[in-house]
Formats: sequence, C-alpha cells, structure tokens
Amino acid sequence: MPNRFAQCLTGHTGVLGVIGDPIAHSLSPAMHNAALQALDKDYIYVPFAVSPLHVQEAVAGVKALGIKGINVTIPHKVAVIDYLDEVDPVAQLIGAVNTISNQAGRLIGYNTDGYGFLRSLQEEAGRDPEGQKVVLLGAGGAARAVGFQLALSKIQSLVVANRTESRALALAAEIHEQTGCPTVGSGLDSLDSHLSAADILINTTSLGMYPQITTVPPVEIEHLPPTALVCDIVYNPSETLLIQKAADSGRATLPGLGMLAYQGAAALELWLQVKAPIDVMKTALRMQLASQ
Ligand code: ATR
Repeated sequence: MPNRFAQCLTGHTGVLGVIGDPIAHSLSPAMHNAALQALDKDYIYVPFAVSPLHVQEAVAGVKALGIKGINVTIPHKVAVIDYLDEVDPVAQLIGAVNTISNQAGRLIGYNTDGYGFLRSLQEEAGRDPEGQKVVLLGAGGAARAVGFQLALSKIQSLVVANRTESRALALAAEIHEQTGCPTVGSGLDSLDSHLSAADILINTTSLGMYPQITTVPPVEIEHLPPTALVCDIVYNPSETLLIQKAADSGRATLPGLGMLAYQGAAALELWLQVKAPIDVMKTALRMQLASQ
C-alpha cells in the first residue's frame, strides 16, 4: 500500500504534536490534522508516547528538532514546567501546562484547558461568566484549570465540592488567595446546601466517564434553580448521565466536547496565529469518538 503521506510531506512541512503516556487513544491528532487540512497549512500533527522518565529529553527534543508546538497530556502537564523557558501567568496559577509553543527557539508554556471551557461556555451555552455563581464538582487537575480560569473571569462566587473534602478546601483557599474571587470548599455531603443559589454547575470528576457510564455525581438536580446551566467536562460518552438528567429536568446543559475542541483551537491559534476552524475540529472529534 502506498504511504498516504508520500505526496504531501516535504522538506518544508512543519511538525506539531502531543506528548503523553499512554497516547494511543488521544483524539488530538484527528482533531488537529483535520484543522490543518481545512486551513491548507503545510503542517502535520503527530502523537508521541513519552514515558515519565523522558520528559526532559522530549522537551529538549522539541527545541532540537524545531517542532513548532506540542500539546502535553496526562501524566506530564506538571512535569514539563521545569524544562520551559517561560510559563504564561494563567498556566503558572493552574500549575500545569497543556500547550507548548516554540517561538524562535524559546519554549513557552500555556494552559488552554480552562480557556477552552470558558470559550465553550460563552460560544455554545451563550453564558457570560461575569456575575455568575458557580459550583464546581471535583478538585483534581481539570478542576484547577476550570476553577482558576472562571475565578479570573469575574464570576460572583465559586464553590469547590469534592469527595475528599481536604482537597476542596485547599483548592478553594488557593483560588481565593491568588485571584480574590470569593471561593469556598466543601465535601460532597454538604453540596446540597449550595445548589439553590447556583447559576452554573460543572462536573470535573470522572463520574459518568466511559466505561463507568452509569455513574453520576451526587447532585439533586431539582434543587438547582430552573435557570441553572449544568455542564460536564466528560466528553465520552458525548452525553453523560448527569447531562441527560439535567436535560430531562428542563435545565440547559453543556456537554464536554466543546471544551476539548476549544482547548485545541486555542493551542492551534497560539502556534500558527490563525483562526481555528472550530466546526471542523468538533466534527473530527465526533467521528473519532464514534469510531473508537
Ligand atoms: P483530573 O486531572 O482529570 O481532574 P484527578 O486529578 O485524578 O483527574 O481528579 C479526579 C477528580 O474526580 C477528583 O476530584 C476525585 O475526587 P477525590 O479528590 O476525592 O479523589 C474525583 N472522583 C473520582 N472518582 C470519584 C468518585 N467515585 N466519587 C467522587 N469523586 C470522584
């Protein structure tokens, strides 16, 4: 079978990619290569399986090989920070980098995860974060990205609710201290007391994620205002049980695929200074998810 890249890869072709471990199931190559094709850019986006033992060499390799930019996924988002020339202030607050841009040999780290959620909230749900009261479920890496980004976006207040209460309290204190946004932490047992005032509820836990698709965060949907927006950053399945329950109750919903597409769009925009073709990227994600 002829190599399908034989005609299109030349000495001019630029390289982008993603490092992670494992990386085989990453949706990013399909999403980014579809975008690069739609933009008619002479670039290719490649998955790199990088063991935690080789993060430093991998980052040095980005510079040595003149790779224009990479995404960073689990488990390297924190470890890469030590090897960069500069880290964007938002990524510094979050304490994790998911995008590295090679700007004339200087490696600059960004975090577009929270920004991806923010863009999805604005563009897809039509919600301006300003003045909103937000309840965030979870206190892991995804909660940090979304929580800090929203706290920097003029929300009125934030509740971080987590199974392990101590993690919720620590993240809430850090967000409050670093951004000034009124933020409290809570265990899941006292989550219910925060629901009646919430404008936006966001699940950042893994509850509901494939293969545990019948699990759901312990939220009494009916205790949320009828106007509340229920968001889930889980994108596989495309509609989690939480999203289904919220939709059945008549509340507005925001599934996770948009955050994934917009975090990728933001990375592409940082690397190539282009407007990312968001619809092409979402379609590629849906097709890839359907074929897995
Ligand atoms: P990520 O980087 O994707 O956020 P993580 O850092 O492992 O992943 O965080 C996973 C989040 O899901 C945590 O908030 C975790 O709660 P704990 O801090 O108590 O571990 C939450 N989570 C995972 N499984 C859960 C479950 N069965 N019930 C409630 N929360 C759960």
